[in-house]
Order: sequence, then structure tokens, then C-alpha cells
Amino acid sequence: MANSTLADAKNAKNDEFYTQYPDIEKEISAYLEYNPDVFRNRTILLPCDDPEWSNFTKYFAQNFGRFGLKKLISTSYAEDSKIYKCGYQPTIFEECSPQYDKRKTTKNGKIYILMYDRTGDGKIDINDLDWHYLEGDGDFRSDEIIGLRDESDIIITNPPFSLFREFLTWIIESEKKFVIIGNINAITYKEVFPLIMNDKMWLGNGFHAGNAYFSTPFAKEYAEGVYNPETGLVKFRNVCWFTNIDHGRRHKPIPLMTMADNLKYSKHKEIKGKESYDYYDNYDAIEVPFTDAIPSDYDRVMAVPISFLDKYCPEQFEILGVTQRNDDPYKIKQYTKDEYSNANDLNARGVIIVDGKPKAMYARVLIKKKYL
Ligand SMILES: C[S@@+](CC[C@H](N)C(=O)[O-])C[C@H]1O[C@@H](n2cnc3c(N)ncnc32)[C@H](O)[C@@H]1O
Repeated sequence: MANSTLADAKNAKNDEFYTQYPDIEKEISAYLEYNPDVFRNRTILLPCDDPEWSNFTKYFAQNFGRFGLKKLISTSYAEDSKIYKCGYQPTIFEECSPQYDKRKTTKNGKIYILMYDRTGDGKIDINDLDWHYLEGDGDFRSDEIIGLRDESDIIITNPPFSLFREFLTWIIESEKKFVIIGNINAITYKEVFPLIMNDKMWLGNGFHAGNAYFSTPFAKEYAEGVYNPETGLVKFRNVCWFTNIDHGRRHKPIPLMTMADNLKYSKHKEIKGKESYDYYDNYDAIEVPFTDAIPSDYDRVMAVPISFLDKYCPEQFEILGVTQRNDDPYKIKQYTKDEYSNANDLNARGVIIVDGKPKAMYARVLIKKKYL
């Protein structure tokens, strides 16, 4: 249900999902724990935000001094440019500001900057934020926001789901550090997987129990089980943080059993009692249906669920490819239509022969152990 919600959101181009303060705090704490100076003297850009109520802006403004930030910049996207309108009303804060402009309030994006103790109360915090209207609408692809990106050291946000690929390309071309939210299934995209494979991007610390909750002005449109009327939040299960900043969890090896022990004692009925792990028909790899069923003593190629990336420790495993792509050297067979009428579908997946028939599997990450 939650997955189809995200697909629906994408179809309807509803990008209005707002990140919760505790989720931001939990994620950012992981980078600070690993390196307390990770943000020291850095300029952070929070694009695709809405600084007046964004928890990203609130969190970094409140912690400006503690993190030793040099500058915080936060920008919003103009209401008139949004595809899914939220029934915009300027806040009292905006209306009461001397720079308030009726003609600009829905047409222009806004920029908030925090750099110094403007109020003179002896600390730098949210009250010291200075704001003005942007020249344009705040589109991250505009020259104006590209200029801010280039001036920054670290980019942090939950970008619009519908423009995730474009947003990631925009960040990667800047060669900046980043922490962004996206759908884990994006890892099979041709723009994304090479970054994961070449250790240029990895999964962040993660949402609590893998569930991400967002507020949205359209929450009530979601089905029960996805929308919680008590909290007013919608739940997505496949959402994760993508980053190129190091954190401790990714250096913790996954505790694993040997292949023999898995076959004897695994908690998964799909493994326990089998004679051996299934072998792919079109890949030179064994099928491992669960991350905790990866055999610790197998030193050839293994095809593991995408959710493995959440536990991936680069000292323990090497990433070799993904079964959704056609260009990896571990693919050993291409099917023809003479063999199977659905050859095209089969060629786009890893395939296992079950009772003499080909079964196309979910996307799998191909990995190999680095040490015993
Ligand atoms: C997923 S929401 C996240 C908002 C905020 N960063 C947060 O996490 O609470 C993405 C925001 O990006 C805005 N947006 C959509 N297209 C955009 C674009 N081309 N440039 C900048 N922002 C955009 C949406 O209107 C939406 O408010």
C-alpha cells in the first residue's frame, strides 16, 4: 500500500511531503557522531525547502553554533510554480516584514540566510535568519540556485520525488557533499547505480525501523494504514537517505552464518531445510533472498535484495552490479523469443528455473565477499 502511495504521488506530481524534525535530527546525529567537525566552517544549502516552516531550516538554525557552521542558506520554491497547489497564504511573519511584497509572494521563491548574531543577543539561532525574495521562483535548476549550490559545501534536503533523478544529477555535477532523501528503488537507475557501485554515494543512517513519516497538505487523500489521522502523517516504507558523507553504521559488518548453518538453522523457511541455495539461470550467481541469509563463507557472486544496501559495509563486501542492468559481466545468458515468448521481460531480470519454468526475480544487487 505504501509503495503504491509513492507511485501515486509521483503520477500526480505531488511533491509536497515535509520531513519530520526527529528524522532529521536522527540522521544528522549519525554524521556528527562519526566526525564531530563534519559541519565546522561549512556553508550548508537547503534547497527545495520552505524556510518559514521547514524542519531542516529550524534544525540547522537552532544548531548553528554547536555545529560551528559558517553560513546557512535555505531556499523555497514559489507557490505559482508548484504543480500541486496547497492553497497558499502568506504567513503573518512574511506579511509583517518590511520586505513583504504582494506581487512577489506567490511568484518568487524566498531565500533565508543565517551567518551572524543579527539580534545581538549573544548567540546565533533561528531569530538571526535574514530573508528576501529570490529573483526567480527558486527552481533548483535556475542559474540563481545553481550559484548558491556552487557557493556551498554541503547540500541537504528532501527534494521533489518527481524530479529525483534530475536533482541527483544536479548535485553530482557540483561535486559537493550531500545528504538527501529518495526512494531506495532509485538505486537501479542508470544515473544512480554506478555511484553506489563506485562508492561515490551510499545509504545514510536511515529512518527509524525503515519507516519514513511525512506531513502533507493532502494527507487525507491517502488510504488508512498509509495516512494516520492521529498524527496527520503519511508513511512510506521505501524511502531512505542518500549521502556521500561517512557515518559509523556503514562500517559495521553484518553478522552472518555460514552457508551450511543457514541451510540448517535459518529463520527463513525459504532457506531452512534446502539442499543448497538456488543458482541463477542467466547470472553467474546464487540467489540470496534475505540479507541476513548471506552465507559468510561463500566467496563467489551472490545476488542479494536491494535492501542489503542499508546494511552494506564496504570493508565486508564488494558491489559488482545489479540484475536490472544489461551491461554487467556476470550475465551469462540472453533468452530468445523462440525459447520463451516473454524473453524481453526475462532478459531484464535475474531468472531462476523453478519446476522447469523460468521465474523472473526482483532486482538484486550482485556482491562478493571481501574477507572470510
Ligand atoms: C518533498 S518536498 C520537501 C520539502 C522540504 N525540503 C522538507 O523536507 O520538508 C519537496 C519540495 O520541493 C518543491 N519543488 C518542486 N519542484 C521544485 C523545483 N523544480 N525546484 C525547487 N523546488 C521544487 C516542492 O514544491 C516541495 O515543496
